[in-house]
Amino acid sequence: MSAPNKSYDPVEVETLKPEEIERMRDEALAAFAAADSLDALHEAKVAQTGPASPLALANREIGALPPHAKAEAGKRVGQARGAVNKALAARQVELEAERDARVLVEEAVDVTLPYDRVPSGARHPLTTMMERVADVFVAMGYEVAEGPEAEAEWFNFDALNFLPDHPARQMQDTFFVQGPKGTEESGSGVVLRTHTSPVQARALLDRELPVYIVCPGRVFRTDELDATHTPVFHQIELLAIDEGLTMADLKGTLDHMVQALFGADMKTRLRPNYFPFTEPSAEMDMLCYVCKGESIGNPDRPCRTCSSEGWIELGGCGMVNPRVLTACGVDPEKYSGFAFGFGIERMLMFRHNVEDMRDMVEGDVRFTRPFGMEI
Ligand code: FA5
Repeated sequence: MSAPNKSYDPVEVETLKPEEIERMRDEALAAFAAADSLDALHEAKVAQTGPASPLALANREIGALPPHAKAEAGKRVGQARGAVNKALAARQVELEAERDARVLVEEAVDVTLPYDRVPSGARHPLTTMMERVADVFVAMGYEVAEGPEAEAEWFNFDALNFLPDHPARQMQDTFFVQGPKGTEESGSGVVLRTHTSPVQARALLDRELPVYIVCPGRVFRTDELDATHTPVFHQIELLAIDEGLTMADLKGTLDHMVQALFGADMKTRLRPNYFPFTEPSAEMDMLCYVCKGESIGNPDRPCRTCSSEGWIELGGCGMVNPRVLTACGVDPEKYSGFAFGFGIERMLMFRHNVEDMRDMVEGDVRFTRPFGMEI
């Protein structure tokens, strides 16, 4: 700011000369008019109205004038600044309107154009199938239980009454996990679980009685991959241990499951079988849901789904062997219960007429997509 100017002559205060103020005003108006975008206008605004702008500096010079001259100079600068601010606001409105009009054109959506058909994926039908089966039991009050895929031999075999030299240990050909180097001979004591039944023993050891659990999971056997076998497949296991449970509860539960999954007129039948961890044990079949048994001995009504046998094999079941209960610290005098387990791949095959199990493991979306989100 200039020093106080006692013998004031406005002409001599260069920045406050009328033509100088007019020049500053015109320069600002021209800068706003030349701004062709909101960003450019912002820059012009800072340059022409900011604290370092010519008019702001001129305004500060007013303070250096003697009192009687301040009014005249103040009016001149004030009018110029008013005109500048007005022009700025007008240009702002113009440029905003231009921007809005441009955005409306550029971002317009033609709703009549065909949409971009990006194919949506689908969950694997094995996952959906497992959840669907588990849901049947969750609705009855069962809890979902899980166990590790790399399982202790004790849980996979010993706790389930497979004695060390029991032929059943070879019955389910097993992937044994190698122990640390140098201990191969003794083995690691760990296997890839060959069935979901070890979850039975884990649940009995972990939980309070009574126990009602359903365990879906992945299991492993040294089977070759072919149309009806895969070395990695899925099972669903059910275990119910309570006071007073009988084979009738097992049968009723199986019937309820097939009715929930295949229709109200479905039923199951049991055929004697052997599993070390159930006694008595049975193979469970369900009525063929396509021919409902009408194809049996009826050449006029052949059924591809059950090969005209009228029944479809589901899996194994039985009353839990008291030895298993004892191994897991449960008193077999007080408690009893049933268990069953079956393969999800096989169920998917006959429920959806999948002819080759390899289609389920190859990961081709053309197989999974038709199943959609629900099966
Ligand atoms: C068992 O695994 C018993 N743990 C089932 C059980 C549970 C019995 C509880 C009693 C009480 P199994 O070895 O039969 O049983 O196998 C059950 C089902 O697994 C078979 O019915 C079949 O559907 C399926 N399965 C077996 N091997 C394969 C394979 N390689 N690929 C696809 N599915 C298979």
